[in-house]
Amino acid sequence: MVGYSPFDNATLRDHDHDYGWLLREEPVSLFQGYDPPFHILSRYDDVSAALRNIEVFSSHQGQGPRYTPPSGMVCDPPMHTLHRSLVQQAFSPGAIRALGPRVEAQTAELLDAVAGQAGFDIHDDFAFPLPVVIIAEMLGVPGEDIQQFKLWSDASVEAMGAEDPTPWLAELQALGAYILGQIRARRADSNPPDDLITRMVLAESDGVRLEDEAILGLVSQLLVGGNETTTSLITNVVWRLLEDRRLWEHIVAEPALIDRAVEESLRFDPPVLGLFRTTTRDVTVRGVHIPRGGKVMLHYAAANRDPAVFEHPDRFSLDRPPRKHLSFAIGVHVCIGQEMARLEARIALRALAARFPDLVLESRGERIKPFFLWGRRRLPVRRGGVYR
Ligand code: HEM
Repeated sequence: MVGYSPFDNATLRDHDHDYGWLLREEPVSLFQGYDPPFHILSRYDDVSAALRNIEVFSSHQGQGPRYTPPSGMVCDPPMHTLHRSLVQQAFSPGAIRALGPRVEAQTAELLDAVAGQAGFDIHDDFAFPLPVVIIAEMLGVPGEDIQQFKLWSDASVEAMGAEDPTPWLAELQALGAYILGQIRARRADSNPPDDLITRMVLAESDGVRLEDEAILGLVSQLLVGGNETTTSLITNVVWRLLEDRRLWEHIVAEPALIDRAVEESLRFDPPVLGLFRTTTRDVTVRGVHIPRGGKVMLHYAAANRDPAVFEHPDRFSLDRPPRKHLSFAIGVHVCIGQEMARLEARIALRALAARFPDLVLESRGERIKPFFLWGRRRLPVRRGGVYR
């Protein structure tokens, strides 16, 4: 083994192929196979410390491997503090709890649609539309456009991971034009609908209103960032449980275990394997020098397998004592949508287990492309498994 590569075929197939080696042998690893090259931090303590040290590990030049301008909440304070405060309320624990009945209804509608079929696709028919419909309603954009959101969302994440984003620019411009249209329609409306975009349009901080471009950054982050990830969470947890069908049978028999299954899936198969920061000065981590302006990947998925923190880290276990995984990050950028993602995944899994205890995996499907994300593009299942 010469070194860790996130692009290695075995790693692309099974993200956790090499974490043991990485954590043990090269906890601060320089990856030269990308332009620009980047360092990878993998140990739990190092990733946590970097997440807390925002003066040195900055988000102002993007959360992907390339340098990109600040946008939405991908930036440092004070811009970050202002932007986050504007949408925080919509994601408060009370606001998310209130979404429960709507998520239940949407879940039931999607499962009703496939109930008469011998087989269906967990990704296409269920895990993909569920979060898109919910966030579209919250923002106040028409839910019928979800196939279009899917194309835009794919383009955004592919562009974020690519050395050359040119092939996706037209899609990204179309997404931007669509959201700007939504913002301008509300500005022009004397009685705009009560939704999250309107609230951003009307929000004031010290008498200053947000410009269209700033709202555009926030809306696209919510519309794109939260969907692909929640889809992956639902798809990943169903996949792991069905792959070892004893686990599936366990949660069917004991639905109280579902919250644990979701949390263990987040630890074991994080939808976001890692994100990037840019150093604001030279810094040394475990004796390795990282120059100012260097890109650093904070490897959340590897940190979740650190044996210093998690016993038998490579085992998917429903009896794990609660311990904070890093799949939603920590610190000022901690995922604002984490309770929404948990709510949707728990409701989705509860409904699936209750209605289709006889589910069987047809195949493990194919992973989604960007190297720092982890999810299935499809997950075909069929009914008719024997339930003991
Ligand atoms: C399982 C699902 C999800 C995962 C794994 C996930 C993961 C993450 C991670 C790792 C971060 C930290 C970003 C960083 O390191 O710079 C983050 C931030 C964020 N997430 Fe999520 N997320 C999920 C669902 C959602 C949902 C449902 C929404 C909203 C609809 C959302 C909106 C955001 C936003 C706006 C931020 C930026 C927060 C900030 O920088 O202050 N996420 N998410």
